[in-house]
Amino acid sequence: MDHLIPPHGGTLVNLLVDGDRATELREASRGWPSIDLNPRQLCDLELLLNGGLSPLPGFMGSEDAASVVADMRLTNGVFWPLPVTLDVDPITADVLEVGAPAALRDAEGVMLAALVVDELFEPDREAEAAALFGAADQDRNGVARYLHRSMPFAVAGRVEGLQMPVHYDFRELRLTPMELRRKFVRLGWRKVIAFQTHQTMHRAQLAATQRAAQEVGANLLIHPVVGLNQPGDVDHYTRVRCYQEMLTHYPAFLARLNLLPMAVRGGGAREALLHAIVHKNHGCTHLMVEHDGTGSVLETVGEPGYSDAEAVAATAAHGAELGVEMLPSTAMVWVENRKRFAPAPEVRADDRVLRMTADEVRKRLADGREIPDWFSVPGVIRELRRRHPGRHAVGFTVFLTGLSGSGKSTIANGLRVKLLEIGGRGVTLLDGDLVRKNLSSELGFTKEHRDLNIRRIGFVAAEITRGGGVAICAPIAPYDAVRHEVRQMVEPCGGFILVHVATPLEVCEQRDRKGMYAKARAGIIKEFTGVSDPYEVPEDADVRIDTSNVTPDEAVREVLLYLEREGYISAPEDG
Ligand code: PPS
Repeated sequence: MDHLIPPHGGTLVNLLVDGDRATELREASRGWPSIDLNPRQLCDLELLLNGGLSPLPGFMGSEDAASVVADMRLTNGVFWPLPVTLDVDPITADVLEVGAPAALRDAEGVMLAALVVDELFEPDREAEAAALFGAADQDRNGVARYLHRSMPFAVAGRVEGLQMPVHYDFRELRLTPMELRRKFVRLGWRKVIAFQTHQTMHRAQLAATQRAAQEVGANLLIHPVVGLNQPGDVDHYTRVRCYQEMLTHYPAFLARLNLLPMAVRGGGAREALLHAIVHKNHGCTHLMVEHDGTGSVLETVGEPGYSDAEAVAATAAHGAELGVEMLPSTAMVWVENRKRFAPAPEVRADDRVLRMTADEVRKRLADGREIPDWFSVPGVIRELRRRHPGRHAVGFTVFLTGLSGSGKSTIANGLRVKLLEIGGRGVTLLDGDLVRKNLSSELGFTKEHRDLNIRRIGFVAAEITRGGGVAICAPIAPYDAVRHEVRQMVEPCGGFILVHVATPLEVCEQRDRKGMYAKARAGIIKEFTGVSDPYEVPEDADVRIDTSNVTPDEAVREVLLYLEREGYISAPEDG
């Protein structure tokens, strides 16, 4: 493999031990304390074990971390831009002992690695964040996220890997640095541009990468980040299927696809340098970072915290030492009159240029409108449509909130029947009383218990919505904050429609079907909503219905009309 770029620091590290040592460690580990790794830490561990972070032999201690922050060097002099530390909470820190081993485990409790604790320390996160990302623009540079994500203690030590973190998806696309290097040798690739992306690729990216490959005389490794896997916000499955589609549009033998299990840290040009190191360890000689805003359709692991210009400047300054060249990825625009993509700066005054923003793509997908052929390739559009079939085909939650006796259950029941009559989706009713009998039977009516009750409803509704069904929820849900939480839970899975059943208290009390208001007024029932407990009127209701003025049929119809207007259902029949 002599002709390939050498790994960073000279040696490609492999921290996985052989079978005998793994058995020995597993048996010895019975009395060891455990560190349960979160998804971000699992990514770091995977790249440590497979040599992606070569030459690091484990998680950094305070001296290395401080030296990296101050001088971009490990204490042994090797260039390194960002600390790679293992943060732990106080409870875990409390059971760890310097000099003693600990077991690093995944979410299922599987032991992946052993770490002998060299040091336990309390990093100064604020100082770190300021030095790494510059404190001037907190959001842009990810400082807040950096601080928010990190736990107060860090544990340092060498790592011995028993097994790699388990992946069930796209295994054939998860080559380690060593496997990828072997592949490059087999393919006869010398110069390799890594195209790092965390967004869907369309024709603009296809054109930009092809152009770069031609200019440099290199092959292409599409190396998307598929690091964090957090519920709701990551759908790398669709993205990867899109990349696979896109790959078929490159000239034969030019490009390959591999997935990079990396946690994007969310800040700073220094992160670009860390990426350059990781790609270099994978055998790549050049790095091209996607251009900002070129049509991302799926929100994934978050924005990269640096711009092209910063990345290019950062690697240019350290280029000779790194040995990886950073390629600027100029925005490509579609020149309608020439029927081809061109770099934005090369567009002539009389050219007719077409662009489409990520937002516009998202809207078109939601409304089922056409996505033009100049923008993307048919296979990618097909994959995106499968994932975003438009509102008529996604699941949704109708969340009715209002006082006891306001008419929530009546509307919910009527709506359920009408939606079943329209057909096409399964409908689940999560009525307040029903939930309290089955899901929340141990809960009372304190604020904590009510919030817990609503969160449970939200969780179930989100799952039903994700599965393409309809959840109709009808609790009182008197508190605004937790209603917002539920919206946040459901919206990534489909539609969320908040209906405020705004029947005034006097009317509800007059109805008093269950005799509860009378009991509440008499003080027999405590903390009764509207009487002795607050109801916070929702400002963000999508539909508001006062049932003192309308019949149940009319109320149901109002919700149906909203659903129809928003494209979730086809026009309800009259009558
Ligand atoms: S909450 O606040 O959303 O958790 O309430 P919910 O699960 O919808 O339960 C409301 C029903 O419980 C009965 N009930 C009370 N309601 C409000 N406050 C107090 N203290 C209370 N105690 C019992 C009441 O019958 C509610 O039913 P609905 O169908 O809304 O009238």
